[in-house]
Amino acid sequence: MTHILIIGSGGREHAIGIALKKSQSNPTLYFAPGNAGTKPLGTNLSIQATDIPALLSFAKTNAIKLTIVGPEDPLVMGIVDTFETENLSIIGPSKLGAQLEGSKKWAKQLMKTYNIPTANYQVFSDYEEAKNVISNYNKFPIVIKANGLAAGKGVTIAKTKDEALIALKECLVSKKFKDAGLEVIVEDFLEGDEASIFAFTDSHVIKPMLAAQDHKAIGDGDTGPNTGGMGAYCPTPLISPELYQKVNDTIFTPLLEAFKKENILYKGIIYAGLMISKQGDVSIVEFNVRFGDPETQVVLPLLKTDLLSIFEAIADEKLSKINLEWSKDSAVCVVLASGGYPNAYEKGKAISGLKQTQETISIIHAGTKQDNGNIITSGGRVLGIVAKAATLDLAITQAYKTTKEISFENMIYRSDIGQKAARYQ
Ligand code: AMP
Ligand code: GLY
Repeated sequence: MTHILIIGSGGREHAIGIALKKSQSNPTLYFAPGNAGTKPLGTNLSIQATDIPALLSFAKTNAIKLTIVGPEDPLVMGIVDTFETENLSIIGPSKLGAQLEGSKKWAKQLMKTYNIPTANYQVFSDYEEAKNVISNYNKFPIVIKANGLAAGKGVTIAKTKDEALIALKECLVSKKFKDAGLEVIVEDFLEGDEASIFAFTDSHVIKPMLAAQDHKAIGDGDTGPNTGGMGAYCPTPLISPELYQKVNDTIFTPLLEAFKKENILYKGIIYAGLMISKQGDVSIVEFNVRFGDPETQVVLPLLKTDLLSIFEAIADEKLSKINLEWSKDSAVCVVLASGGYPNAYEKGKAISGLKQTQETISIIHAGTKQDNGNIITSGGRVLGIVAKAATLDLAITQAYKTTKEISFENMIYRSDIGQKAARYQ
């Protein structure tokens, strides 16, 4: 039996678990810590995703053949280096490679060195200096970013000088993001539409996946504050075959060259967060060092190649031997969230209408937990309803049909997931 450990507790990790369970070798899965949806797929462990000593000890004593890291925090902390020192196979970049997400300053410098298109930027660590420079700016908005990990909250799009100075002060003076905000990146605002393309890499080759589009804002029509992601669909017609090739040539190929030249060991997933301008220019908004959530929930169901064999090939540095095959279908994910999210919300609400995953509809769990045989809410993003169908319109219809059968107190969701696609056709 192949024993696999999946680290994390969100919808992304549930979706990875479902994809791995489809593998011919039918692996035994462990989730650390998992959620109510991952429980029927394997064993949920009471080990947190950042408890590296406990994860290491579990992997050693339970003959774990391969560990898959879902979220960024353990990667930035260096879990891959720790596991590899103990000769344990693990999917994710080394601590150095994880800087691509862990330090925006490092990532921007790397992009500059290797000519990867991204917004122009400056780095500041002193508020007075930043204030002097920003005071001479006359082109707004500008984007202010905490250098380190800030749980998705470290970015401000400042529409005016005053807003920019407030954001800078919060980072550099009030230390709102603690060490993560001691340095700040100030960059040009990029106009356009966003898309996410993930890629597998073993440091020798990079194999991009299908392009997806997230819906970050809480409200319909991209209104209201940003969230972790309120829904996604795949593939997106925003990325034409020509643009896909451009992303490969101008982003993934030079990134692989950077890994080789800088001796960066990277055996995992790269997430290219892209901005596509009206003129068809492509820029990196951010790199992440892991699968995205909720995009994974719509990318993996379209992957026809056995995911476990891809991960094994990455671990063995033989990814060149794998040919990625994709379904011609479309997939959509509608996120059901707790009322109040992304601000304060209540937990512990009973969820009704849950049903078994079928061939074309999956109910992906994110913030859920078991409570005396019942499944209750335990997070902001609670569930993701994923539908796969021959066309995007059909997938949207099916996902919303199931969405309407599920309920919990104060449940909210966007009613326009996937509608943007019509703009790009
Ligand atoms: P990040 O945490 O870097 O992903 O930023 C969060 C979100 O802020 C992105 O998904 C974009 O919507 C927006 N954003 C970040 N940087 C820029 C930029 N330079 N121009 C326009 N929007 C941006
Ligand atoms: N969907 C955005 C992220 O995973 O960072």
